[in-house]
Amino acid sequence: MQINGVNMQPGAAEYPRNQWYVAAFSTEVTREPMHRTLFGEPIVFYRTEAGDPVALFDRCPHRGMRLSNGGVLFGDTIQCHYHGIRFNAEGRACLIPSGGVPTSALAVRRYPLKEIGGWIWIWPGDAEQVDESLIPDHDALGLTAPGFHAYHGLVLTANSNYLFSLENLVDATHISFLHHGLIDDGNVAAHPYACHQDGVRVTMVREFSNEVIAPMVARSMGLKGTRADRTLELISYAPNVCVVRQCFVETDSEDKARRDSRLVFGITPTGPRSCIQFVALANDYENTHPGIFEDLRHLLMEDVVALDDIQILFDQLGQGRAPEVAVRSDEGAIRTRRLIAAQVAQEREKAKVLA
Ligand code: FES
Ligand SMILES: [Fe+2]
Repeated sequence: MQINGVNMQPGAAEYPRNQWYVAAFSTEVTREPMHRTLFGEPIVFYRTEAGDPVALFDRCPHRGMRLSNGGVLFGDTIQCHYHGIRFNAEGRACLIPSGGVPTSALAVRRYPLKEIGGWIWIWPGDAEQVDESLIPDHDALGLTAPGFHAYHGLVLTANSNYLFSLENLVDATHISFLHHGLIDDGNVAAHPYACHQDGVRVTMVREFSNEVIAPMVARSMGLKGTRADRTLELISYAPNVCVVRQCFVETDSEDKARRDSRLVFGITPTGPRSCIQFVALANDYENTHPGIFEDLRHLLMEDVVALDDIQILFDQLGQGRAPEVAVRSDEGAIRTRRLIAAQVAQEREKAKVLA
């Protein structure tokens, strides 16, 4: 599917580069260099002595060694393990043990980062166009909202195009089938929904009355009752964030407990046909279930396995023959797709003007 000249068919969908993407949880980036491939590029992450996160292209410009492969930190610099050249946090060589003055060519790309609410965001595009206002409001996500408790998190790798993951999260109807019995009784798919769009945000809302609380939900939210009113909101922020928000109000218990729980996903392409799902949890109550992330991993891997299989079929058939026909409930996914296509198209236009 082409939109504005942008390939938006999941399986080979394009994505904008002048945007912020989740690169890591804060806890993953330490004084020990860490490699992660994102956007098809090798990147090394570490922290300066002051604690600031750093991301550099992970390939030494001298002979191509990965800086993360045995690289050692000296102060804020990283020393390549092959011939010992050191690079500062800006990516410029600052010491050549074998002699000579570092030239400007002896440098690696530095990626702009922003650390907020336990997440490290990266800007893979043109550093001249960095725009912090494009990062979603973390209070609105729930990660830094007053009265909310945030928990990090899962790092799930998928061997499928990022758009499969993003659209999967805006599509509630699969809950009734792919996850049958885990988080509801199968009554989501046929339930009416409303779809709202506000800027880059698309929301699909479903309201349920006095429904049976699924055991996994009761366990993860510490609910004692057996029935509740429930609001299910699936909120996408083009091009890469999705929030699955569930609000429960018990209807058959004495205290009529209320719970607002948000699963916050950052979907980051690692290549044209692979991505990482970073998953955090934000609740308006303290989590009391120690196995919450294991339960979530079990649930979310059902999606990852299905999406990876769809990708295999897509690659076997090729773009022209891979089936993809939208139905009414795909409205949120299609709107999100259009927003991303507009972002890519706009980026291309701007590049033409700057060229
Ligand atoms: S390859 Fe890194 S210093 Fe030679
Ligand atoms: Fe799912």
